[in-house]
Amino acid sequence: MGKAMALLLAERDYRVFAAGRSAQKRAELDRIAAQKNLPLETVELDVCDDGSVERAVEMVLQKSGSLDVLINNAGVAYVATIEDLRMEDWHRQFETNFFGVVRVTQAVLPHMRERGKGRIVLISSVAGLITAPAQGGYSATKHAVEALGNALRLEMGSFGIQTILIEPGFIMTGIQQAAQELARPYDHKIRTGPYARLYAAFLSSAQNASASSKTTPEDCARVVLEAIETPIPKARYGVTPMARYVKWAKRLLSDGVMDRMSLRRFGVRD
Ligand SMILES: NC(=O)c1ccc[n+]([C@@H]2O[C@H](COP(=O)([O-])OP(=O)(O)OC[C@H]3O[C@@H](n4cnc5c(N)ncnc54)[C@H](OP(=O)(O)O)[C@@H]3O)[C@@H](O)[C@H]2O)c1
Repeated sequence: MGKAMALLLAERDYRVFAAGRSAQKRAELDRIAAQKNLPLETVELDVCDDGSVERAVEMVLQKSGSLDVLINNAGVAYVATIEDLRMEDWHRQFETNFFGVVRVTQAVLPHMRERGKGRIVLISSVAGLITAPAQGGYSATKHAVEALGNALRLEMGSFGIQTILIEPGFIMTGIQQAAQELARPYDHKIRTGPYARLYAAFLSSAQNASASSKTTPEDCARVVLEAIETPIPKARYGVTPMARYVKWAKRLLSDGVMDRMSLRRFGVRD
């Protein structure tokens, strides 16, 4: 989704600094940008590394002189139950999805605050609103991102900085493959542990939902563009139809009803 956002914004003539830790992905984006003659350059950035974040933000400010929009997009997803997810993976899950966002946001806030202008986009998730079984760790980070966005909105609004939460549902991207790789150490537990039935039900339901989702990374990029360009942005934007439905269902239905729907949706209960 980061690639789709970077390309769409560059095509709309924004000067884009697309940051990531993968040299291969950066080279591919540089190649497309050069081919299409887009105002896009890539920057090395690992959101889990203080030094890397400092260097990247400094470099962008040096080159551009100012920073109008920050999009916090990097994320990983571990699939494991609360009991199974190992402590080191809880830390990794939060280090990327939550502390990474805090780290990059803190690095750009002084600049935006002094300028009295800026927009911070946080790529949250429908998992920031509701929680699926076997996704407790991922969902906890996205709930934390929602709280971060709420606090930033209240703290930074008077400095002219707007904060926007983007809440996509299932979209086919690299995250499904990356999640499979992160789940490898849990293979044995997933197949034969006490939660085997739950994992099987969750994985097949999540796979079907991702495969049948008609929403693309480019659709998400268009929502982000709208959030960036509209004069008065909303606090949060749902991206897929499911995300918009969940937002209302959560407001209108009791926890008991939501739990039953979730158990049915993820095939844990008929
Ligand atoms: N796809 C969905 O269904 C969905 C739904 C709701 C929300 N989201 C959210 O959307 C965002 C983008 O995810 P995606 O679906 O586009 O998945 P993706 O294709 O796996 O992209 C995630 C990107 O984050 C990067 N990343 C991971 N750790 C990083 C780090 N420490 N420093 C810098 N970059 C790092 C990854 O780069 P590497 O190659 O270096 O790992 C990857 O390019 C995530 O925050 C995700 O939680 C996705």
